[in-house]
Amino acid sequence: MDSVLIIGAGFMGGGIAQVAAQSGYTVYLQDINPVSLDKALQQIKWSTEKLAAKGKIKDSAKDVQDRIHIVNDLSIAPKCEWIIEVVYEDKQMKNALFKDLDAKCPPQTIIASNTSTIPITLLAEGTRYPERIVGMHFFGPVPIMRLVEVIKGEKTSDAVFNKSVDFVSSIGKYPVKVMKEVPGFIMNRINGAAFREALSLVEKGIASVEDVDKGMHYGFNWNIGPFEIADNSGLDTYIRSRKQYEALGAIEAPTSYDLIEKMVKAGRLGRKVGKGFYDYTPDGKKIPFDVTTLK
Ligand SMILES: NC(=O)c1ccc[n+]([C@@H]2O[C@H](COP(=O)([O-])OP(=O)(O)OC[C@H]3O[C@@H](n4cnc5c(N)ncnc54)[C@H](O)[C@@H]3O)[C@@H](O)[C@H]2O)c1
Repeated sequence: MDSVLIIGAGFMGGGIAQVAAQSGYTVYLQDINPVSLDKALQQIKWSTEKLAAKGKIKDSAKDVQDRIHIVNDLSIAPKCEWIIEVVYEDKQMKNALFKDLDAKCPPQTIIASNTSTIPITLLAEGTRYPERIVGMHFFGPVPIMRLVEVIKGEKTSDAVFNKSVDFVSSIGKYPVKVMKEVPGFIMNRINGAAFREALSLVEKGIASVEDVDKGMHYGFNWNIGPFEIADNSGLDTYIRSRKQYEALGAIEAPTSYDLIEKMVKAGRLGRKVGKGFYDYTPDGKKIPFDVTTLK
């Protein structure tokens, strides 16, 4: 079975490592921050044990965990068939990493980015083999969410694109093909539009966070509302993505970051820290936070 190197072991990278290992791939997981690696392994242990107890994975939790190997640098990269980059949403950082990987790896290694917004063509700039660079945009929490947008950059070859679509299916996810790249791809453009409006309604005092979320749930059958989605993604990650998105000239309507910036300043980064637009209690309760109390 092929091996996969995942670079970045945060909220998304740890989840991608888990689902690839659940599907039998040998996984190498690398991060510059050892704390992220520890947290990812703990989360994977907890999640695989839960899934195994419910009979939702075919192998034992231990077998899945044993397929994941922590690595401290990128020297394994040339030996892997797949590389998935899952570091911060920062064009310069990702592009530098892609150039480094491109120089290290043989031409047949496929290098994918989990970027939420940045066109793949920009990430592939300055690489020798841009045809092997592709977008694989997962949705979080990765072990639960089935969608992956597979994005074709201007220079991505058909062969690499089709193989990537098959790879996504092989790890039990549903691939949606983005045939022409556009910042934000498909889903974040649609969700971004909804969240922009939701933020504006709350900032103007027209509705509460909870009522917007409940409204979308009861009125439009959304499983969770736009603020719950933002909490799941992480508000710091949201700001980075949005700024990147705007820097690409892709914004269609002005966005106010005031409320999100206040939330981040107050340490309310979302579900990953137990508090965002809601407070998440250890016993699984979700209590709405009154955003009007923020300074
Ligand atoms: N959070 C979401 O819901 C979501 C959804 C889809 C895509 N994404 C995208 O996935 C990527 C990661 O997002 P996240 O939510 O996992 O962020 P995160 O902050 O949870 O994790 C990022 C990790 O990357 C590590 N890192 C940073 N620079 C690195 C480097 N040079 N080499 C190795 N590791 C490095 C950090 O230490 C951190 O552990 C971003 O591009 C983001 O836009 C996020």
